Amino acid sequence: MSKSSIGRKWIVAVTGILMIGFVFIHMTGNLQMFAGTPDKINQYAHLLKSYPLVLWSFRLGLLATVALHILAALSLAWENRIAKPVAYAVAGSHSRMKVALTSVTMVISGTIILGFVVFHLLHFTAHRVDGSYASMETVVAGVTMPDVYRMVVAGFSQPLISGFYIVAMALLFFHLRHGAASVFQTFGLRDQNLVKVMDAGSWIIAAVLFLGFSAIPVAVLAGILKP
Ligand code: HEM
Repeated sequence: MSKSSIGRKWIVAVTGILMIGFVFIHMTGNLQMFAGTPDKINQYAHLLKSYPLVLWSFRLGLLATVALHILAALSLAWENRIAKPVAYAVAGSHSRMKVALTSVTMVISGTIILGFVVFHLLHFTAHRVDGSYASMETVVAGVTMPDVYRMVVAGFSQPLISGFYIVAMALLFFHLRHGAASVFQTFGLRDQNLVKVMDAGSWIIAAVLFLGFSAIPVAVLAGILKP
């Protein structure tokens, strides 16, 4: 393994962990949809937007993290492809084939997740998917702002959109599960017991994220979350 590929693996691992931190916080915030009143999540959205400098620093940091993750991961996947295709095919080694296959499926699932995030930003942040969201407003602490609760319920009342979100969440689960194994390798974890514990932990984190995010579209479609 070249020195520069170790550097890129660390970049993928550390940025991956930072993004997991973001999605975890985002999911926890979103679960306020179940607070029994629309006010809770709208107050939360208002709080996040009350400090524009913090918000924009955070957004730029997140953007840089996503960009670094994608660039380093793609460059590693590309190097893997051009460096070893013959070895994989000729040696017929099962585990090497598996590594190659995982690398391809990680690129595919990662690309779809990126597509989802772009759609998601156009959907709920830029209101470009459904123009009617722009008129869904509420007043929090004297400030007129988007009514996040009503917008999310309106969005997920469309089964096609809910279905797309749930499929994207399933891909996120898959991406995190397979990413975790590479992270352990990158960090040089060899103690099998520790690897087992961390693997179980990462399985739980991926499952909690999938269930926590998917609960919202499912609850809207089931009529549990109403306008
Ligand atoms: C059921 C699932 C989800 C719901 C209901 C949801 C809800 C929302 C809402 C309402 C906003 C807009 C906030 C606003 O501008 O007022 C938002 C922003 C965002 N969401 Fe989600 N989200 C979900 C899943 C995800 C997932 C899985 C990811 C990442 C993989 C994600 C990444 C983002 C990002 C990056 C933003 C922009 C944050 C910013 O404005 O700085 N979301 N989400």
